[in-house]
Amino acid sequence: MLWLIILRRKIIFCWIPGHAGITGNELADTAARSGTGSSERFPIPHSDLKACFRQKLQSVWQSNWDQQTENKLHSIMPVLAPTVPSSSNRREQVIWTRLRLGHTRLTHRHLLFGEPPPYCEICNVPLSVKHILCDCPHSNHLRHRLFNSVDFTISSILNNSTNSSLVFKFLSIKGFIHHM
Ligand SMILES: *[C@@H]1O[C@H](CO)[C@@H](O)[C@H](O)[C@H]1NC(C)=O
Ligand SMILES: *[C@@H]1O[C@H](CO)[C@@H](O)[C@H](O)[C@H]1NC(C)=O
Ligand SMILES: *[C@@H]1O[C@H](CO)[C@@H](O)[C@H](O)[C@H]1NC(C)=O
Ligand SMILES: [Zn+2]
Repeated sequence: MLWLIILRRKIIFCWIPGHAGITGNELADTAARSGTGSSERFPIPHSDLKACFRQKLQSVWQSNWDQQTENKLHSIMPVLAPTVPSSSNRREQVIWTRLRLGHTRLTHRHLLFGEPPPYCEICNVPLSVKHILCDCPHSNHLRHRLFNSVDFTISSILNNSTNSSLVFKFLSIKGFIHHM
């Protein structure tokens, strides 16, 4: 559907996907059909096409994923959905993804630099994302304050990005956020 808007004699052509639920669509459809206008083509801004492509790709990806029942990740996430918090910035998305993978700079940089692995200095156990978020008893007070619980699993806290802002808050209070 092509709309033509005249504003102070400036003419703006604006491509709008058909039946986008816009009031007046029917009127415009009828007007368009009755028009004697030429079939001249207008370039479509690529930003308008992006949403269409994204939707199409998503459905192709999903139907592909539907068939991969042998994949062990399939049962974890049968319906594809964003795994990063949509309101987050790039840095937070990186941190969130690293936490979910369990691979952070803090816990894995020693592999790159040939250093000894990091330990929780208080508990004297290897430092891991799980230890930081769920296990280290010295964070129980903070866990209770932020999550209202001291007993949760790593998957329950990281499997849904609704908890992400609390997780970021937890990590910044513990001083870990800049080492993720
Ligand atoms: C996340 O974990 C909770 C608790 O284990 C579970 O109830 C929920 O279904 C999980 N959500 C997803 C998207 O896997
Ligand atoms: C994380 O979010 C889920 C809902 O998405 C909730 O069921 C769960 O209790 C949360 N985990 C914690 C530790 O708060
Ligand atoms: C995450 O949890 C929220 C609140 O419990 C729920 O509304 C949402 O659908 C969940 N998201 C996913 C991907 O499971
Ligand atoms: Zn500890």
